[in-house]
Amino acid sequence: MIFESHAHYDDEVFDEDREELLASLAGHGIGTVINVGASLSGCEQTLRLTEQYPFVYGAMGVHPSETQELNEEGMAWLREQCAREKIVAVGEIGLDYYWKEPEPAVQKKWFERQLELAREVKLPVIIHSRDAAKDTLCMMQALHAEEMGGVVHCYSYTKELAREYLEMDFYFGIGGVITFKNAKKLKEAVAYIPLEKILLETDSPYLSPEPNRGKRNSSLNLPYIAEAVAQLKGVSCEEVVEITRRNAERLFRLRAA
Ligand code: NI
Repeated sequence: MIFESHAHYDDEVFDEDREELLASLAGHGIGTVINVGASLSGCEQTLRLTEQYPFVYGAMGVHPSETQELNEEGMAWLREQCAREKIVAVGEIGLDYYWKEPEPAVQKKWFERQLELAREVKLPVIIHSRDAAKDTLCMMQALHAEEMGGVVHCYSYTKELAREYLEMDFYFGIGGVITFKNAKKLKEAVAYIPLEKILLETDSPYLSPEPNRGKRNSSLNLPYIAEAVAQLKGVSCEEVVEITRRNAERLFRLRAA
């Protein structure tokens, strides 16, 4: 079964067929799903999904572009939710300079606070980093993120930067972008990263792989991503599925992997 390490099934674009879609995943070879919080309301809905579906686990966190909503009360609420049994990570958290709001100082403040939260509650982190390679790495090194461990989701940086994250023993979330023809830099990085450090993800509803690029994404597209990774690694698709599942179970401590 394929392990979906990053999806947003709380998104309103799934309102019309969420139940049907989630119920169909197992029949298509998709096993565990991590639903990742990106805002406080998204976290609330993530909690509901983890209660409703045995195969759905959750991550609690506020995406950098949403951090203007955070305050002490919000942080206290997140901390409480992290104690729940099916919450397996803090995320997604990080820096996003592609979107100019909120300003970097605000994003950095709440990235630091949420990294500290992960340390406190002893959970791994799910990192979102876009157009902010240097600041993300600097903060993670300064705050010793290697002690919490985690995954750089939708990894989109170079092979050289991957080496830095490997030194911190981080995992790499690989999604639909790997199937794009122009993803030369990412393909080089994936060829370099050991399969034992790769997780499969879709980031649904965003970033659909080829041949469904531009459409609403769902975990049903994971086989296209597994296939692209298998080709780059020169191994079978089954091997990619099996090893990445074990990687995710190890990182999120879901069973003795
Ligand atoms: Ni995401």
